[in-house]
Amino acid sequence: MSGFDLPAYLADRRAAVDRALEAALPGEDVPPATVHQAMRYSLFAGGKRLRPILVIAGAEAVGGSLRQVLPTACALECIHTYSLIHDDLPAMDDDDFRRGRPTSHKAFGEAIAILAGDGLLTLAFRLIADNADTVPDPRALRDVVAEIADAAGTLGMVGGQVVDIESEGKQISAETLEYIHTHKTAALLRAALVSGARRGGATPAQLAAVRAAGGHLGLAFQIVDDILDVDGSLVELGKTAGSDQRKQKATYPEHHGLAASRVKAKTLIEDSKAALAPLGPGAEPIRVLADFVLERRS
Ligand code: IPE
Ligand code: IPE
Ligand code: MG
Ligand code: MG
Ligand code: MG
Repeated sequence: MSGFDLPAYLADRRAAVDRALEAALPGEDVPPATVHQAMRYSLFAGGKRLRPILVIAGAEAVGGSLRQVLPTACALECIHTYSLIHDDLPAMDDDDFRRGRPTSHKAFGEAIAILAGDGLLTLAFRLIADNADTVPDPRALRDVVAEIADAAGTLGMVGGQVVDIESEGKQISAETLEYIHTHKTAALLRAALVSGARRGGATPAQLAAVRAAGGHLGLAFQIVDDILDVDGSLVELGKTAGSDQRKQKATYPEHHGLAASRVKAKTLIEDSKAALAPLGPGAEPIRVLADFVLERRS
């Protein structure tokens, strides 16, 4: 949309999310201090805050407000950050840098890194419970908890991570590759948008539109992540490029080539924006965020 100021939109919502996370996280000196230090170390290392911003944008697109969804937005960032801490562990992707810093296990050791991830995942559901105050109908809370739990669990992100690990060094089908990416990454991004829209009071038709848009955007996001692992740098990404090749990961560029992967990501972003048509102008920030997912360099 002409005139839409994405940097200002992102900065404003990021600041609100960061303030709320700061208030939600136990202080660094609260016992047991090590785990709280580790949770804060990863959470406040930076990060685009895309998932919480999608929660907020999902709510705003259907007439809801940031205030209504802020604890749920923070919950999505906690789940995401937990997934990054565990994804980097020696037993998983064995990476040394994340968000421009040594990974959690490098800074705190594996045991505390695992427990910091567990702590963030658990805190997420506490935050969603706190968000009950803004929901007039308790069934709406049930639906959001179910949505997020399904997206994060073995039928969602954890499931995708399992198949990602099991596919290292193997020739897999295009269908299995798509399964990995839709589950390990798209599921949580879609749940962010859908949870925000639910909390914001979406109609069933609006929810269906947002669900479709979130799925396309989420798959595009992981394809771009794969591309950036090939053509990005540590300075841009805050994590080591070339990690996928080192671990012989199943990625879109490896399977389909770089050019076809770029075309696929672009098509998915167009599909995502097209799916948002029923929401009208209220969904403009989501459309602009979709373009950002494609064009990002970090
Ligand atoms: C990285 O996610 C992990 C993937 C799901 C590809 P982000 O690129 O959103 O990481 P941060 O939150 O900005 O650090
Ligand atoms: C991670 O995918 C998806 C998660 C659930 C964290 P990647 O392993 O490609 O993410 P990065 O590249 O390490 O951020
Ligand atoms: Mg991984
Ligand atoms: Mg990884
Ligand atoms: Mg990656």
